[in-house]
Order: sequence, then structure tokens, then C-alpha cells
Amino acid sequence: MGLLELSRLTVHYGKALALENLDLEVREGELVAVLGSNGAGKTTLLKAISRALPSRGAMRFDGVDIGDVPMHQVVARGICHCPEGRRLFPELTVLKNLQLGAYLRDDRAEIAADLERVYALFGVLRERARQQASTLSGGEQQMVAIGRALMGRPRLLLLDEPSVGIAHRLKMQIFDSIRAIQQSGTAVLLVEQDARSALGIADRVYVMEHGHIVRAGTSAEIAADDSVRQAYLGV
Ligand SMILES: Nc1ncnc2c1ncn2[C@@H]1O[C@H](COP(=O)(O)OP(=O)(O)OP(=O)(O)O)[C@@H](O)[C@H]1O
Ligand SMILES: [Mg+2]
Repeated sequence: MGLLELSRLTVHYGKALALENLDLEVREGELVAVLGSNGAGKTTLLKAISRALPSRGAMRFDGVDIGDVPMHQVVARGICHCPEGRRLFPELTVLKNLQLGAYLRDDRAEIAADLERVYALFGVLRERARQQASTLSGGEQQMVAIGRALMGRPRLLLLDEPSVGIAHRLKMQIFDSIRAIQQSGTAVLLVEQDARSALGIADRVYVMEHGHIVRAGTSAEIAADDSVRQAYLGV
């Protein structure tokens, strides 16, 4: 059984159809990537899963229907969303931003242990803990955003284009950390435009076009697909 199972998921913005009859599964502990060009519907998909948008179709998490779960209860179920464009509180310190990810929790010792885990993953955040988030580089801010989502202790982490606009060296570090998060047992649904990097770390991949899934397979299968190679890898 999948951890997350979407069946015939459909989302409209007013009259405009954004996702149509989408089937997608993420298994326990799996790293699944969604590739697709601008406007394909990737962000819409993650927003629908975290209930920020109304949808039709079936949505199950850990065997339970979450289609009617309100947005504020999704984190408590174990789904944490690291949104497109990071969305930090720029005036607050790095530490405060991270702590906000644990706002639903009151297990202080466990929160402290999770903060240590985030610092172990992103050492620079420990050095920058007392600094305003706005003073960090783009890549460092992305680390804060991922760290904040981890502070909710997700069983499934949703990542929306974590590598966008980030210098190569930090980008590689972020992809390495995503792999480390998966290896620690957290399932990851990663939306990416950097197809090469995503294929390098994902177990399985879905390709989206115009609100539909047009290909699905293991990373090796998708990387070998001629149409994917032309459209997303430029080879
Ligand atoms: N709030 C909205 N109201 C109306 N249409 C929207 C809204 N948000 C997104 N859309 C439209 O829905 C489609 C899918 O958008 P979405 O943001 O999901 O794409 P995306 O794959 O994440 O693109 P990108 O790679 O540029 O982030 C696009 O055509 C977009 O214009
Ligand atoms: Mg997007």
C-alpha cells in the first residue's frame, strides 16, 4: 500500500482546469520526483495534497481519506510542505523560522533533537541561527525552508523546486541533503525543473504536461525515454 495515493485528482482555478484525473503514488520512505515545464501544474499538485486548494478525486494518506481534511490539520497527519519561493519570515531569525515549523508540537525534548538534526544536515544554519533570515543567501534560505518543514516531523515531505535560483555548489548540497532526508526514513515528493539532478536522486519519476501525467517510471526508465531526454535533458 502506498503512503500517499492520489486517484483521479482534479483541480480547477475557477473554470480553468489545472489538474485532470491525476493518479500518483508515493510509497513509504520513497523519493518520488515530478518533472514538468512551467505551468504544467506541479505547484498546484503539491497545494492540493496539502489541502491549500480544493480538489476532486480520491486522496489517501497512510490508508486514510484526507480529501476532506482541512489545511491546518495536514501537518499533524504527517505531511509537511516546503513551498515554492521559500516563504520565510524575513524579519525573524533563522532559529525562529525553524521553530515555527514545530508550532503544533509541545514535545520540547523531541523538538530540540529535531533542531539538532536540521543543524547536522545544514551546518551553516547553526552558525546563522541568530541572524535575520533575510540576511542569508538564497541557497541558505532554501535550507531554512527545508529545515522548517522537517521540524514538523513529516512522514512525507513535499518540496517545490528547492534548487531554483541557487548557485551550483549549494544546489548540489541541497540535493545531497534531500537524499539524506530520505535515507533517514522520510518519504519525499520532489517537484523539480532541474531534471538531471532530480533523476539522479529519485526512485521513481512522474512527468507532467498541461495538468496530466504523461509518463511514469523508475528514474532509469524515465532517463532512457527519448521524449523526456529531448524535452528535459536537452540531449
Ligand atoms: N491562483 C491561480 N489562479 C488561476 N490560475 C492559476 C493559479 N495558480 C496557477 N494557475 C494556473 O494553473 C496552471 C498550473 O500552475 P502551477 O503553478 O501549478 O504550475 P507549475 O508546474 O508549478 O509551474 P512552474 O514550474 O512555473 O512553477 C498554470 O497555467 C497557471 O497559470
Ligand atoms: Mg510551480
